[in-house]
Amino acid sequence: MTKTIAILTGGGDCPGLNAVIRGVVRTAIRCYGWRVVGIEDGFDGLVGNPRYRELTLGSVRGILQRGGTILGTSNRGNPFSYAVEKDDGSTELIDVSAQVLDNLRQIGADALIAVGGDGTLKIAQALYERGVPVIGVPKTIDNDLRATDITFGYRTAVSIVTEALDRLHTTAESHQRAIVVEVMGRDAGWIALESGIAGSADVILIPEIPYAMERICDALEARCQAGSRFSIVVVAEGAYPIAGDKVRQKQAAENFGVERLGGIGAAVAAELNECLGMETRVVTLGHLQRGGSPTPYDRILASRFGVRAAELIAASSFGQMVALKGQSVTGVPIASAVAQLNRVDPQGELVRTGESLAINFGR
Ligand code: F6P
Repeated sequence: MTKTIAILTGGGDCPGLNAVIRGVVRTAIRCYGWRVVGIEDGFDGLVGNPRYRELTLGSVRGILQRGGTILGTSNRGNPFSYAVEKDDGSTELIDVSAQVLDNLRQIGADALIAVGGDGTLKIAQALYERGVPVIGVPKTIDNDLRATDITFGYRTAVSIVTEALDRLHTTAESHQRAIVVEVMGRDAGWIALESGIAGSADVILIPEIPYAMERICDALEARCQAGSRFSIVVVAEGAYPIAGDKVRQKQAAENFGVERLGGIGAAVAAELNECLGMETRVVTLGHLQRGGSPTPYDRILASRFGVRAAELIAASSFGQMVALKGQSVTGVPIASAVAQLNRVDPQGELVRTGESLAINFGR
């Protein structure tokens, strides 16, 4: 009997999602003769009337190099804690997971592939525990999942930020300015660290190393004295001072359970302006880091993840997530994958390399 497999993308978009979808569809149809349906807008598409469409070889033609996700995504639709509006205009969180199970049955899905970050994978694990044959595919530009050596989208983000730093250097140098560049990275500073090293930053601030402002000012002061009259500071959005806290735009309670960070760049720029007396500007790269075409590395990794996800279904290895381990793409339990974050080691080789290159980490 022909299997029907369903696939959805959840959480923030990320370069390489379409390459995963294409990898799944091509492998499922060409190698196994299965049917594939794409669920629209993440788990949201499985609440209420299901929203889905059949994915054929034709519908994934030409999408390998495209950013975003052809299926749409949502980071609001946790079916175990789903926001519904009440008559008085207030919202209430309710468990609608039974609707998800019914809809999967109605679609005739023999397996579900959930492509997403921490939040999506936790939902996938909870559905697996309720009997849904689930396969997870990890996605985050932050590269903060321990269970895989690297996530697709991360290298694309690093290359976008590095190009931005190269461009900002010319303005900083021409105008003798300090430019503070705020980049993504909630809990892990990988994007700031690697793009900062590649883009020759003078200061890198990451969540793993709470910073002391006076150390940064001393380092940049010394740089000025030595004749460099401009500076580039890269700040991860989750960075914070030793005696302070992360800067938030919205608390979790007002943002569907996830706090929205942002603003640390402006805070650092204001303090630098004071202590250096140098014109200081701030650039927040924001979603530029997530958009557009994936690099060749990310296209290949995402394609491998898609192919492997289909193979795990063929082997009935449910409850597993695809992961890169060394040279191989393999399966690991989703439960172990969501348990541990991959954070920068403050004493590790990359940070020490940066320090040897005269980059200051605010310590
Ligand atoms: O998890 C990836 C990420 O890019 C984070 O670094 C960032 O905080 C978040 O997404 C932003 O998400 P949103 O677009 O929902 O505000």
